[in-house]
Amino acid sequence: MTGITGKTKIIGVWGHPVGHSRSPAMHNAALRELGLDWVYVAFDVAPDQVPQAMAGIRALGIVGVNVTVPLKELVAPYTILSAAALQTGSVNTLHNQEGRLHGDSTDGRGFLRSLEDAGQSGAGRSVLILGAGGSARAVAFALAALGSHCRVANRTRARAEELVSDINRVYPGQAETSGWGERTYAVDLLVNTTSVGMYPHIDEMPALPPDIFAARPFVYDLIYAPSRTKLLRLAEQAGCEVSNGITMLVHQGALSLALWTGLPVKEIPVKVMEEAARASLRE
Ligand SMILES: NC(=O)c1ccc[n+]([C@@H]2O[C@H](COP(=O)([O-])OP(=O)(O)OC[C@H]3O[C@@H](n4cnc5c(N)ncnc54)[C@H](OP(=O)(O)O)[C@@H]3O)[C@@H](O)[C@H]2O)c1
Repeated sequence: MTGITGKTKIIGVWGHPVGHSRSPAMHNAALRELGLDWVYVAFDVAPDQVPQAMAGIRALGIVGVNVTVPLKELVAPYTILSAAALQTGSVNTLHNQEGRLHGDSTDGRGFLRSLEDAGQSGAGRSVLILGAGGSARAVAFALAALGSHCRVANRTRARAEELVSDINRVYPGQAETSGWGERTYAVDLLVNTTSVGMYPHIDEMPALPPDIFAARPFVYDLIYAPSRTKLLRLAEQAGCEVSNGITMLVHQGALSLALWTGLPVKEIPVKVMEEAARASLRE
């Protein structure tokens, strides 16, 4: 953002609530670094206002928006879905291309890039995914596409079973359901995709299988506030390497920005975005 002009292009984020979002800080830092006459703003869109917001994005010529809780599934029927959005049934990036609204999901690719940042591969892993919501879908499909085997444990078992069956339809035999908090086979990557342990409930933790840390899995928590959830603190104490979700936030945002601007992803200033996201979390 170089100052608002008559030609300033608008991108942003829709959520409800949305005031806590780190995305404006992160994206506006990137826009400044790129020298683009663009601005990224947060819109609080109530779920019953989605149809009007969809019309608004076209009417106002907004280039695109990120979509967050609780709207990711609600916006999908209004868009032309990418393969990733079709698989996950949710959209985190809307792109207005001359009035045609494209819906994509960059969460899965953002997660894989974040794993790489932590020196971890998403290929050929034996994974336990805690949770079966929108982000679990993105993570599980991204890992299964790389040949990893995913066990999915969720408080509501039926939701885990549905996700497992959707994965196995595309990647036969690569997913199975696991009981919430029940013993499982050797796991070398544990991913928490539930919201359990998120600020302000920092002393809560998802149910874990007994002895889950014995084989020293890499432990990834999608939560980034707090930076160390109770799950990550316990995993570290047990000698596991860990990562929180801050770099996933950065990478999914960078992938969205690449879509909107048409720039190659490698030209998006991810380090600048990460610094801005971390700084906004310290505020
Ligand atoms: N780092 C990033 O870039 C990034 C990106 C996306 C999401 N996230 C984070 O990931 C988390 C989940 O997001 P989402 O979009 O997947 O949400 P979602 O679709 O609403 O799914 C929420 C999941 O959490 C589980 N859950 C919620 N409360 C629980 C509780 N008290 N005990 C046990 N399980 C509980 C739900 O289980 P049930 O099915 O039983 O309700 C479900 O599996 C959030 O913390 C979000 O901030 C981070």
